[in-house]
Amino acid sequence: MDEHLDSGADSTRPQDDRRGFLARVSAAGAAVSALLVGFPVIRSFVSPTLPQPKVDGWVKVADDIALIDVGVPVRVNFVQAQQDAWVESRTLNGVWLYTEDGDKFKAYNGHCTHLGCSYVYDKDLKHFYCPCHRGHFDVRSGEVLAGPPPRALDELQVEVRDSAVFVNYKDYRLGVSDRIEA
Ligand code: FES
Repeated sequence: MDEHLDSGADSTRPQDDRRGFLARVSAAGAAVSALLVGFPVIRSFVSPTLPQPKVDGWVKVADDIALIDVGVPVRVNFVQAQQDAWVESRTLNGVWLYTEDGDKFKAYNGHCTHLGCSYVYDKDLKHFYCPCHRGHFDVRSGEVLAGPPPRALDELQVEVRDSAVFVNYKDYRLGVSDRIEA
């Protein structure tokens, strides 16, 4: 009787080992899946307390100052990538660059300060014109000449580095008289 029981126990051992091994692999897989799914969810709850990826506002808008027209504003569009947690978004932005001597540059945010429309340079009037509600701006100062815009164009910091032009791009609140970063 004892012999029979012993031999029966021996014959089930490889099956038990296999089941145990499969159970351990399955448990490990479930743990990895839980981590992969759970980490972003947990991060979304605590992300305000985690360091956020830094968005560099400096954008190269011209490779060579020698190629920029003097006395005529030029619009430069660029795509800016921003990382928010694990989501990357891309935005099309633009600036107007202006120089009177090819040495010192002015840059204006490409959005009208009224409601954010893109404005153009009117060659005949020699100033900026926003077609949305007929806003007019001075090219040299960005000041409002006519129309509903509540403040001058938003001037941005400019730096020339090794002949290339960089602009510190920022957006500001629209439709208000004070310049407040958006
Ligand atoms: S958006 Fe430019 S004048 Fe209204």
